[in-house]
Amino acid sequence: MTSKPLFRILSPAPGTGTGTDTQAEATIQIWFNDQPLSVPGGRSVAAALLAAGVQRFRATPVSGAPRAPYCMMGACFECLVEIDGMPSRQSCLVTVQDGMRIHSQEGARDLPPLSDVNSVENVHGR
Ligand code: FES
Repeated sequence: MTSKPLFRILSPAPGTGTGTDTQAEATIQIWFNDQPLSVPGGRSVAAALLAAGVQRFRATPVSGAPRAPYCMMGACFECLVEIDGMPSRQSCLVTVQDGMRIHSQEGARDLPPLSDVNSVENVHGR
């Protein structure tokens, strides 16, 4: 019995060259829990951290169990980290940038600082 593969390698978009994504191949420097990391650029923070061998992104609020990205598409919230001082960022939805300072998220999710909340909307978006 044969089965179809679940995933396939995507073809390069027309006009993007030979298929070698130079942006994704470029190595950039970030910080994770105050440790410097060289990671591949052009991808999400979660993908970059996983490629660098990071296995613990946050701890659960109740038991403190280690958690790491699961869905990689913004549905499960297992990948929450603090990015450049902003807590509760879904690392699978944020593109990694050179110089980012990322910290694992410990305990309960936190609301963003009031100074970062749009003054027209409250924290609930109303
Ligand atoms: S890995 Fe599921 S929301 Fe980011």
